[in-house]
Amino acid sequence: MDMKRFRTQVYSSKLTDPANAIVSRVPERKIGFNMMKLMGILAAGLMVSSVFFTASVIYRDLASDRVRGFAEARVFEVKTEEVANSGLEDIISHAVEAPKDKLLGGLLADEFDEGSCLSRFQSVLFRKAAPHKPSSYLVSRLRRYESLHRRCGAYTESYNRTLEQLKSGQSTGTTDCNYVVWISFSGLGNRILTLASAFLYALLTNRVLLVDRGTDMTDLFCEPFPGASWLLPLEFPLNQFSSFNQEHPHCYGNMLKNNVINSSTGSVPPFLYLHLVHDYNDHDKLFFCDQDQSLFQKVPWLIMKTDNYFVPSLFLVPSFEQELSNLFPNKETVFHHLGRYLFHPSNAVWGLITRYYQAYLSKADERVGIQIRVFDTDTGPFQHVLDQILSCSLREKVLPEVDVQKPIIRPSGNQRSIAILMTSLSSGYFEKVRNMYWEHPTVTGEVVSVYQPSHEEYQQAEKQMHNRKAWAEMYLLSLTDVLVTSSWSTFGYVAQGLGGLKPWILYKPENRTAPDPPCHRAMSMEPCFHAPPFYDCKAKSGVDTGALVPHVRHCEDMSWGLKLFDLDQF
Ligand SMILES: *[C@@H]1O[C@H](CO)[C@@H](O)[C@H](O)[C@H]1NC(C)=O
Ligand SMILES: *[C@@H]1O[C@H](CO)[C@@H](O)[C@H](O)[C@H]1NC(C)=O
Ligand SMILES: *[C@@H]1O[C@H](CO)[C@@H](O)[C@H](O)[C@H]1NC(C)=O
Repeated sequence: MDMKRFRTQVYSSKLTDPANAIVSRVPERKIGFNMMKLMGILAAGLMVSSVFFTASVIYRDLASDRVRGFAEARVFEVKTEEVANSGLEDIISHAVEAPKDKLLGGLLADEFDEGSCLSRFQSVLFRKAAPHKPSSYLVSRLRRYESLHRRCGAYTESYNRTLEQLKSGQSTGTTDCNYVVWISFSGLGNRILTLASAFLYALLTNRVLLVDRGTDMTDLFCEPFPGASWLLPLEFPLNQFSSFNQEHPHCYGNMLKNNVINSSTGSVPPFLYLHLVHDYNDHDKLFFCDQDQSLFQKVPWLIMKTDNYFVPSLFLVPSFEQELSNLFPNKETVFHHLGRYLFHPSNAVWGLITRYYQAYLSKADERVGIQIRVFDTDTGPFQHVLDQILSCSLREKVLPEVDVQKPIIRPSGNQRSIAILMTSLSSGYFEKVRNMYWEHPTVTGEVVSVYQPSHEEYQQAEKQMHNRKAWAEMYLLSLTDVLVTSSWSTFGYVAQGLGGLKPWILYKPENRTAPDPPCHRAMSMEPCFHAPPFYDCKAKSGVDTGALVPHVRHCEDMSWGLKLFDLDQF
């Protein structure tokens, strides 16, 4: 439909001033070329000058690297015929050869076969150069982790030996490899956040992270570590993960409660189950105390189930403090870096992402992401949510105002195009916003297009295509320039973290009323830990853990949550 509209525009402008009318839509700084065959055919059919092809935008980001950008971008100036004849694969493989920082400042290991996971090295082509570089210490720790993972990964000699302890039920306390097993649990947004948390915990404790594949982990993500899988073997002896709960005899909190174990216990079991789900009790929460951490050092297998981004509370564990500050001098980049390191969309999901991006987003001058998640028993759409989205976006100048008086605004010099990407379980908000920009011109002349990839009406936790699309949508949101997100939504947290974006957060509506003010700007791009402990391990009493250090504070969108912030903003 939008294509049809565009075609009409192109066609009618051709009648007056063919080349200019089209080319002027695209700022000159944008260099690259158009990959869309359809566009190619369309434009060729209209016999538009070949300038059109080189002026299009997919590699906008390369060009925005100002000085360096121009030279690099020349790589992409190919002849019209080449574009028409070459597939996406060819184009991207050319592009990958461009000297862009495809290893993300050393974050990614340079040992992968690129074809097995296209997103790993192509993502850089779709993103703006990230202002946040990983610390050289983080980079060196990741390389060290990778070699540990290789040495201790599934089916290695060390793994087999440690597994023997598990089978015998005896821990000798002298294993050379220790593990944390992450249980696939909860919705996709939560899983991405918990897996990053578990990985950081593994890094801090020199453990090897092994991932329960659940129903779709292999379908959604590439392997992040070179040379050794992160997947837990299917024949792992404790693979009935649904039986792990707070009453499990190996649940650490449960064992503490029943006095089966304590920090002075000499002999420890070969495995413990750590229940870090939002409903965890005071015993389970002792996970965040140094004393308990030192007991875990003797336990080769830790099985972890969580639905929360628990990283902020790791920053309050004294024995982790120094290492964390070395790893992350900029505290609010923890998920940003770990997320980009760990989560590479599988080729199936990458196809969804790149096709959508090229079809709807690549040509815009600016991309705005609006992520809507309504926590209500009813599915909506709700008028108060729409009101809130619009009042936030217009007030904060995320979106241009429309003129409801004039039927048309003469094209001015401003022909900037804005593409709005909306994600929601319902299509109602998208339709209203799209209609607004269809029925009325913008006051300042921008051309606004509105897109929503999917609307599934209700959240389906485990369906394959559903989760592929959900992951693609999170990723697409992370490729936008400005982001508006809903409070409490892990989906939004993933998008903002991967994108390195500080979103406008829509306050949570109470009593089905749009809050005033409708939103405010996040001060940190980190996710929020929704269920943190409020316990002082030394004093053995309650404490406000959001007030102990400047970089761990309460979240903007949840008053009792904890989140990492950078010091210099206060
Ligand atoms: C570890 O055990 C598996 C299965 O029992 C076996 O196939 C593999 O060869 C063993 N690894 C080593 C290094 O012995
Ligand atoms: C630790 O547990 C043992 C039993 O496993 C018990 O005898 C001992 O008193 C406990 N110590 C503390 C400090 O609670
Ligand atoms: C919610 O709205 C209803 C009706 O508009 C009102 O009677 C009630 O007091 C409101 N509750 C709160 C907590 O604001």
